[in-house]
Amino acid sequence: MTAGRLYGLGLGPGDPELVTLKALRLLRAVPVVAYPAPETGDSFARRIVAEWLVPAQREIAVRFPMRPGPPPAEIYERAAAEIAAVLAAGQDVAYLCQGDPLFYGSFAGLLQALPGRCPVVVVPGVSSPSACAAAAAMPLVQRDEALAVIPATLPEAELARRIAAADAAAIVKLGRHFLKLRRILEKLRLLDAALYVEHASWPSERVMPLAAVDPAGVPYFATALVRRRGGG
Ligand SMILES: C[S@@+](CC[C@H](N)C(=O)[O-])C[C@H]1O[C@@H](n2cnc3c(N)ncnc32)[C@H](O)[C@@H]1O
Repeated sequence: MTAGRLYGLGLGPGDPELVTLKALRLLRAVPVVAYPAPETGDSFARRIVAEWLVPAQREIAVRFPMRPGPPPAEIYERAAAEIAAVLAAGQDVAYLCQGDPLFYGSFAGLLQALPGRCPVVVVPGVSSPSACAAAAAMPLVQRDEALAVIPATLPEAELARRIAAADAAAIVKLGRHFLKLRRILEKLRLLDAALYVEHASWPSERVMPLAAVDPAGVPYFATALVRRRGGG
């Protein structure tokens, strides 16, 4: 029997219109879909494409604890074993990914945990830095500038060092790390060069100067764009 294929489907930042035609075609063709989800409640990746799921499709929710730090390896191992069994039985599986599958996504962890080799096809998706720059109508980088993508989860001194060294930065995973970031930007005199983008491409999208953000209400799906030279 021919083994099934594992598809990593990038679904973009949240607006269903930003799902690619290829991801949509494959999504509708596979007998099994898998996706990351919180311990209780809905998967955000699934929600992006909920209207296109086929009732006969089997669904595998891979549930991750919503606490800081890397998820336990057993979660990936269990999910990989379940998915590998489906593939070995000859069925294709699509793993749904918010944004791009290989840009800070659980798909990378799943790939590493798969026992043995299986055919894998990755469909790229619009990642959050591109979606946030589009929401802000702000170039990420121009000419000879380099872009740094920096997680706000880093310790304060390291975060400051990386921001200080960057021409331009997309700082992801804000949430409860927002105040730390704001403090750093103030110290580096970059607060006025920082834009805040929340829920890019969702109906609740907000774009504003980072200095104007209420730190109490910063969600996980928020990104800061910092560009030292502004006009490039
Ligand atoms: C674990 S990373 C996942 C990135 C995703 N795979 C991608 O390609 O964008 C999650 C971080 O990406 C950023 N992010 C993802 N979607 C976003 C959106 N729609 N608006 C703003 N930031 C977003 C946030 O900083 C969030 O904390």
